Amino acid sequence: MESPDNIRITFSDGEAMDFPPINGESILGSAEKAGNTLASNCREGTCRTCMARDADGNEVLLCITPAQPGMALNLPYQRPDVMPPSLRRAKINAFSRASRSVWEIRYRLQFPLPFLPGQYVEVLFPGMASPRRFSMANPPSGKEQVLHVRDLPGGAMSTYLNERAKPEDAFTVRGPFGVFYLRSTARPKLFVAGGTGLAPIVSMLSSIDPATTPPLAVIAGFADAEDAYALEALRTLAKTLPLELILAADKASEAWRGFVGNPIAALGEIRTIPLDNRTEAYLCGPPGMVNAARSALLARNLQAAAIFNEEFVHSS
Ligand SMILES: Cc1cc2nc3c(=O)[nH]c(=O)nc-3n(C[C@H](O)[C@H](O)[C@H](O)COP(=O)(O)OP(=O)(O)OC[C@H]3O[C@@H](n4cnc5c(N)ncnc54)[C@H](O)[C@@H]3O)c2cc1C
Ligand code: FES
Repeated sequence: MESPDNIRITFSDGEAMDFPPINGESILGSAEKAGNTLASNCREGTCRTCMARDADGNEVLLCITPAQPGMALNLPYQRPDVMPPSLRRAKINAFSRASRSVWEIRYRLQFPLPFLPGQYVEVLFPGMASPRRFSMANPPSGKEQVLHVRDLPGGAMSTYLNERAKPEDAFTVRGPFGVFYLRSTARPKLFVAGGTGLAPIVSMLSSIDPATTPPLAVIAGFADAEDAYALEALRTLAKTLPLELILAADKASEAWRGFVGNPIAALGEIRTIPLDNRTEAYLCGPPGMVNAARSALLARNLQAAAIFNEEFVHSS
């Protein structure tokens, strides 16, 4: 039965959920204990995945805000976008180095796993004690799924790829997760990636219909030009989409033909879309880069509600 003490959360399509606040629990914890699924990631107040807004437009992080009676909050995504995840068996088709610091893995699923471009999965490969999170780099229509994996020396995933992985290895995939997905609005869209933060952005760009798209700009940032990858895929996309492509490397030799500097400095290079309140932005990569890009875009008057981000925080 409805109670005035219940917390009410309204999704962007107008659908709402009500649940009782649990003393000593966060809003997210209270929602989950009542059997609801909401988007979350770090669950410690850093990644902003769980962000909602109150009636005055103030941001409320559901994972760290204590549940209080009668709260009313709005979410920037639709309820069907956070359906409970599914578990799938998968087998590796192929894997290779895409640059000195990035692996690309291609795999097939036993049964399809629908997802929105930009979402991620949890994968558990043989010999790994706990799953790791990676974003799909393929469009949902793709027959294979593709992951871009940063090579972290000593990392469980990296060690598997460097030492044990072979085609036909079986593993499990759970998902999809996340609300960092492409919104079908008519606003110009800016994408800013740091390193393998490019993966969900390639998925989004590959899903866009060239006939109906607004103008697009991508900044693909790499620590060093030797880390740069997926350049051919990006250039191919730029042939069919109205896409301004800026490749940025913090460190580069004279052979590098892109911008030298970080992705935030590269914002000054954008010529084809306005960097103001008309534009929507998608930011993905290391938390420091994502936060710096967000601040820089807010300073240029992009609307906070039109900036979407995914921070590649470490799996705990
Ligand atoms: C929603 C989401 C989506 C993600 N998508 C991708 C993706 O598409 N591609 C991708 O490459 N990564 C992605 N990540 C990051 C990835 O999940 C982690 O980096 C992962 O745990 C690395 O696994 P590993 O087994 O190689 O290293 P681990 O065994 O987990 O860690 C090895 C060492 O590296 C450090 N470390 C791990 N991750 C990071 C990091 N991100 N930054 C700095 N130090 C780190 C650890 O502290 C540890 O010392 C995503 C993360 C999230 C939360
Ligand atoms: S899940 Fe709440 S901020 Fe990360």
